[in-house]
Amino acid sequence: MQTLKVELGDRSYPIHIGEGLLDQPELLAPYIAGRSVAIVSNATVAPLYIERLTRSLAAYKVLPIVLPDGEAFKNWETLQTIFDALLTARHDRRTTIIALGGGVVGDMAGFAAACYQRGVDFIQVPTTLLSQVDSSVGGKTGINHPLGKNMVGAFYQPQAVLIDTGTLRSLPPRELSAGLAEVIKYGLICDEPFLTWLEANVDALRDIDAEAVTAAIRRSCEAKALVVNADERESGVRATLNLGHTFGHAIETQMGYGVWLHGEAVAAGTVMALEMSMRLGWISQQDRDRGIRLMQRAGLPVVPPAEMTPEHFIEHMAIDKKVIDGRLRLVLLRRIGEAVVTDDYPKEVLQATLAADYRAIVAPL
Ligand code: NAD
Ligand code: GLY
Repeated sequence: MQTLKVELGDRSYPIHIGEGLLDQPELLAPYIAGRSVAIVSNATVAPLYIERLTRSLAAYKVLPIVLPDGEAFKNWETLQTIFDALLTARHDRRTTIIALGGGVVGDMAGFAAACYQRGVDFIQVPTTLLSQVDSSVGGKTGINHPLGKNMVGAFYQPQAVLIDTGTLRSLPPRELSAGLAEVIKYGLICDEPFLTWLEANVDALRDIDAEAVTAAIRRSCEAKALVVNADERESGVRATLNLGHTFGHAIETQMGYGVWLHGEAVAAGTVMALEMSMRLGWISQQDRDRGIRLMQRAGLPVVPPAEMTPEHFIEHMAIDKKVIDGRLRLVLLRRIGEAVVTDDYPKEVLQATLAADYRAIVAPL
């Protein structure tokens, strides 16, 4: 097992990474203050892993809360069912919520923990690559609104993050690829040598080679922890973690939540951010194509949906959380391995980026 730490003073917490951690009660016990625990999971993940986790919680009264599966259920109605279950079972303020699942479960369980009786402890047990490298770390929790992705939520840090890499073996390949989009993101925004490593190891990652996967998760969590340590509430550098997300969230909202996976939308959105960075003269065409090729090799879409017009993008991007005083800030690349957040770009360059023919751009690659 490897352990990293998110350093946030008295809210610091460990990230444990290893195979078989679900079966290690001693990793959970230090973070459970009361006698009751609620495991929030979903209809896909619960049958696979809730029994093992419950066995590790034999010392506690355990309430399973099983949500319907899917991004389309990341909403108020589903959140309410978590509160219904907690109140019906009379869980008090010393209860601990454990999120067992991907980013959808983690974001919702975390938000429920932030709100229930004004805040109870929670532990993240992420089971998708995406949630293991990104969403379980850093304390962003929330739900979607029909008008915008992740528009309602709270910053609320977990007590611990337990990454059992063995859970990735049951993950469908499409979901694994979606997670790789966020892994590649770290290489692009802050770690060029990691990008080179990914180019050499992307096939091993898609084969879920244990050594490669553990290394990628560790390096991603290290990068994320550093950013969160420096800027927990996203007043600066944390926004760089949203490379490709402003375009990507527009795709998710326009297409209907769950139609494009979050990681897939981020991949196509990242291609758009690369294109815009190139049009601004910050990165070369070779740099842009390097990013696109890696996304392709990871099994990700690199062309935005044909039915989305520039107007669709503009409409959704106008309510992005990075809009300040009506100015849309975008995460772009100054160079490979260095991201910036800026609203200082000619409008025409954004328009040209939205109108670009991505099919023609990727065809020769
Ligand atoms: P997800 O939670 O929908 O999980 C993907 C699919 O895999 C689901 O069908 C799920 O049931 C299934 N699954 C999960 N673990 C499995 C396993 N081990 N074996 C088999 N199937 C399994 O999607 P995701 O990609 O994990 O997360 C996406 C969500 O995370 C989005 O809502 C996104 O907004 C959010 N997110 C949040 C942050 C953050 O910082 N909080 C960061 C990135 C993404
Ligand atoms: N996934 C973006 C963030 O955590 O800030």
